[in-house]
Amino acid sequence: MRKRVVAGNWKMNTNIEEGLLLVKEIDHLVKDLSQETGVIIAPPFTHLATISSLLKSENSRILLAAQNCADHQSGAYTGEVSPNTLAEIGCKYVIIGHSERREYYSETNDLLLRKIELVLKANMSPIYCIGERLEERESNRHFDVVSSQIKEVLYNLSEEELEKVIIAYEPVWAIGTGKTASSDQAEEMHEFIRGIVADKFPSCADNISILYGGSCKPSNAQELFARKNVDGGLIGGASLSAVDFVAIIKSF
Ligand code: 13P
Repeated sequence: MRKRVVAGNWKMNTNIEEGLLLVKEIDHLVKDLSQETGVIIAPPFTHLATISSLLKSENSRILLAAQNCADHQSGAYTGEVSPNTLAEIGCKYVIIGHSERREYYSETNDLLLRKIELVLKANMSPIYCIGERLEERESNRHFDVVSSQIKEVLYNLSEEELEKVIIAYEPVWAIGTGKTASSDQAEEMHEFIRGIVADKFPSCADNISILYGGSCKPSNAQELFARKNVDGGLIGGASLSAVDFVAIIKSF
């Protein structure tokens, strides 16, 4: 069965004290909600170990994700963070290929595939982000862009590996702009994505979770999540407010 997921990508926001406070608020608010929806948060690297201990001590249902990882497990890679150590401190997921990483840090599909393979080897699940830029949509190339982001990366995995992947469709023009994709635009692309996955992995396509990201907030989450191929959201700005984040989780 396809899993519903709402994940909060905090990006480079909050100090540790603010982060702990936010987690405590979210944890308190999700305690009584139906367990059907997976709740994931992705705080900055510096917060992960502390937050992981807190979640453990609270016996929380919230699962932890890192926002990125190295494309090597260990060695002379100054400033990088090994997927193995992320797993060791309790991360279950790693966001891979966010458009901010593709755009500002020149991450390519080749590099992202290497990261995904290491994340899977470390027994975590990648949340693989794809999505087109505004000019690509305006020139009607959005399906081609998304199709190659899937084919050049996910097509290299085995069926068993693909089953552990979550896809997040985040149109770049909707991220942090307040301009959400309409539920028709999201559904159209999510259906297309599922179709591309089905071409190579016919038995997995129906089960893979495809999240929508880009200015998703309490006021539009319900309409987006109601669509057949939208299995949840990857939330940026609104995940920094416990009340808004939990309102989004409740939108199913
Ligand atoms: P916003 O929700 O702030 O638009 O960000 C979306 C995002 O990039 C999540 O990864």
